[in-house]
Amino acid sequence: MQFTKRLFGTFKTSAPATTTSVNVTKEESASKQLGSLAEPPNALSREETLSLIRSFPFWYHRIYVGNGIYTLDNPALHEVVWQKLCPSLPRALDGMSVLDVGCNAGFFSIQLKLLGAGKVVGIESWEDYYKQAEWCKKIWNVDIDYRLQDAHSLDTMQEKFDLVIFAGVLYHLKNPLQVLEQMGRLCEDTIWVETEIIPEDPRNCLYVGQGTYKGIRVTACHKGFMKFIEGDELNGDPSNWWVPDTECVIGMLRTAGFKYFSAPVYVMERRLILIASKKSDSRFNLRALD
Ligand SMILES: C[S@@+](CC[C@H](N)C(=O)[O-])C[C@H]1O[C@@H](n2cnc3c(N)ncnc32)[C@H](O)[C@@H]1O
Repeated sequence: MQFTKRLFGTFKTSAPATTTSVNVTKEESASKQLGSLAEPPNALSREETLSLIRSFPFWYHRIYVGNGIYTLDNPALHEVVWQKLCPSLPRALDGMSVLDVGCNAGFFSIQLKLLGAGKVVGIESWEDYYKQAEWCKKIWNVDIDYRLQDAHSLDTMQEKFDLVIFAGVLYHLKNPLQVLEQMGRLCEDTIWVETEIIPEDPRNCLYVGQGTYKGIRVTACHKGFMKFIEGDELNGDPSNWWVPDTECVIGMLRTAGFKYFSAPVYVMERRLILIASKKSDSRFNLRALD
């Protein structure tokens, strides 16, 4: 697929993963894409489907909704993210519980439900996306608990999840570490992270005080940053707040309780895909990104 090739043009990996287990192969996962499944059980007529799609000003997720119709015309980033992360799933999901933070129209939630996940909770703060998720859920006749909720209020949740999906959300948060710590509290095994990042570049450098109280010195630091976005300078989108580099993402994940990390994978140079786990014997294959 041309789009996939374009997205993977600057793909690179580094740093070996820290756990081993053999799970879903890339070939197996490719046969489990939403688009390659049979017609959704509750597909509407062609006219009703098109009218519902057009009733929303904007779609971010490309989801197959029957009669040859997708919610978006062109392949989208989340499909590439899914292709990269799906092989890390265990061969049988066996009712795995999933929390999809910033679930949008529910692409990941539906995929995991169709593959055999048990409890799937999706939280989404934008009402139109929440409504899209509810509609797609009905079309696919899957039991997903979507909640119109801000990720900053995860502290009100007490449930536990095997997998937390945190894709395309970190840089939209005013307080990303607070949310990551809450996800660390709710997650029992693994988190999938995908985010905008400061690209890896040896020229990156900040001079900042480092050292002990008595020995503090302004020092050149080459990693471990997060850039504040005050306005709409990233993508013309005022809902963006912070762009971290890879080291910063990994450091925040460690602070949130995650200990084991996959190799980082870069899509389009400035998007990071990473798997982090709390467990050395995780059900997920962190080497899937190698
Ligand atoms: C770039 S999209 C990513 C959607 C999906 N997770 C994916 O990777 O394809 C960001 C999503 O996060 C949602 N979002 C942004 N800030 C949020 C917040 N504070 N709480 C919950 N959802 C949020 C947006 O409304 C949007 O649906």
